[in-house]
Amino acid sequence: MQFSKDFIQKVLNATDIVELVSEHGVALKQTGINFKGLCPFHSEKTPSFNVNSQRGFFHCFGCKASGDSIKFLMQIDRLSFTETVEELAKRAGIPLEKNSAQTRRQSSEEEGGLRCLREAASFYRENLSGPVGKIAQKYLHQRQVSENMSERFQLGISPDSWDETLKSLKQKNIPQQIIARAGLIKSGEKTGNFYDTFRGRLMFPIKDVRGRCIGFGARAVKPDDKPKYLNSPETSYYHKSRTLYGLFEGLEDIRKKRRLIFVEGYLDVIRLHEHGFTETVAPCGTALTPEHLKIVSRYADTAILLFDGDTAGKNAALRHAHLLLPQSMESYILNLPEGEDPDTFLLIHGKEGFEQLLERKVPALDYLVQQTINKFPDSIQGRMQGLEELLPTLNQIKDPKRQQLTLTTIAERMKIPAEILSRELKRKTNKNLRTEQENVMLHRLPKKTTISQDEQWLLQSLLRNGQLWPRVREHLKPEEFKTPHFHRLYARLLQLPDEAFQAFDPLKLEESDPELFQSVMMLLEEEIPIHDFGLSLKRIKERNLEIEYQQSLLHSQNNEDRAKAGAKRRNEEEKLKSLKQFFQ
Ligand code: CTP
Ligand code: MN
Repeated sequence: MQFSKDFIQKVLNATDIVELVSEHGVALKQTGINFKGLCPFHSEKTPSFNVNSQRGFFHCFGCKASGDSIKFLMQIDRLSFTETVEELAKRAGIPLEKNSAQTRRQSSEEEGGLRCLREAASFYRENLSGPVGKIAQKYLHQRQVSENMSERFQLGISPDSWDETLKSLKQKNIPQQIIARAGLIKSGEKTGNFYDTFRGRLMFPIKDVRGRCIGFGARAVKPDDKPKYLNSPETSYYHKSRTLYGLFEGLEDIRKKRRLIFVEGYLDVIRLHEHGFTETVAPCGTALTPEHLKIVSRYADTAILLFDGDTAGKNAALRHAHLLLPQSMESYILNLPEGEDPDTFLLIHGKEGFEQLLERKVPALDYLVQQTINKFPDSIQGRMQGLEELLPTLNQIKDPKRQQLTLTTIAERMKIPAEILSRELKRKTNKNLRTEQENVMLHRLPKKTTISQDEQWLLQSLLRNGQLWPRVREHLKPEEFKTPHFHRLYARLLQLPDEAFQAFDPLKLEESDPELFQSVMMLLEEEIPIHDFGLSLKRIKERNLEIEYQQSLLHSQNNEDRAKAGAKRRNEEEKLKSLKQFFQ
């Protein structure tokens, strides 16, 4: 951990989690002390995403995502822990602490790299309007990229020289080493001299979700310049498998539309944005990864993947259909007419033409099944071969209901009895022992009628006010809880170290004891009426005395036994009275 505990706490205290969550597109409604909304981490129709502003955490009863503001921001914006704390500190106006040497080194390395890229981006951008930019301006004009889009995507030109970029960055006091690490210069094998990586190219700055430039795509503008595209290297802040071109620029609209269009190239993204399809993104010179899809599934429910209409495009589409199927997003495949890419298609057919085209999108599942059927001969053997290809993908669908539905669809389309398919799948997976275990999970609250309200209130008060803990722990034994679920829960709480209750933080349990964590969250989520903690405790004790007395009577053989039971009861009642202080 790179920040001190105090610092992290300070940042957390200064962050209003309700505000933070709301800013990320979750509409929250207040219900008592909690706020509720649709979970941004999985798709749902009824809200099970809870935010507790007092304690500063969120919890989803649907997908079990939970945590504090830091965890929320890490997951929703895909930031590292350090980035998240920095971002929240910035948001709260808290200056960053500089403590350990390692932190300083690492963050200054990153900071240095990011500053270098920021400076480079503005250098390239400035050049576009200068004399050096003529060739790029001409190219942009020829490709019909508007001034608007050039501004939106901060396009630029790298000077066609060996060291203009290097010189300019050095002038801004950026060390050569940092420029090299950011991939903007290279050293000659023989001479060891550094020279610019990108020379005379149209520069596409690549941004992370926070809008920081983390790299470049660079397109040749002269016909004989090879290769067509050059790309920045991966660094600690530029992971291609997680970065999507256009995501920063489109994020707001993507959140609103809850939809994404995937294309292959930078210019395709720009063309689509220009025509109002601002929900368009592209990977940065790499293949689409499950990570990409996971990231965007936080912002959107629907994804449309566009592919060229040629054989290569169709093969790519089929590969991606396999990739899409296990994802929770509703996903579609769309093949363009042969010989066109999204950029050229829009130039020819315009916005309306593209909208009509979009209507021809095919659900990824249908696409997958159809293409798989086409791939093999129409015979039992052929269908079995196709099945072999589909099973691993089917197997990756985590939600059992969705898996079953998908299985039925596949069976139907492939004319294979569902039972056979199901059996094949089981043979492949061989893991059907789960549900039994899940039923006895601690966090399943028993039905209302069978629980003791006082016991529940007592536990809820205890969890909300850790100061009660030492008194309770001393005077209350697990067996005094008559609701089995609470009995178990309390026994588990007793095993925690005392310090845990000084400022009881359920989030600490999440990793060490996930089951206990779920139970605790259930209790914390529920409204409790204003009530007297001591009174609940007293009623529990009195109730237990009564139970004990009744049982002794039941088992007593003679008057003497009964007298003994009565005396014991009076004795215990006296003891309870002496505990008066304890109840207040
Ligand atoms: N690409 C790359 N390196 C290459 C060629 C392509 O990284 N040598 C990546 C780029 O991200 C590019 C995408 O693959 O945007 C699609 O490539 P391609 O279809 O060849 O180019 P277009 O995007 O159509 O580019 P343009 O329209 O400028 O020709
Ligand atoms: Mn193109």
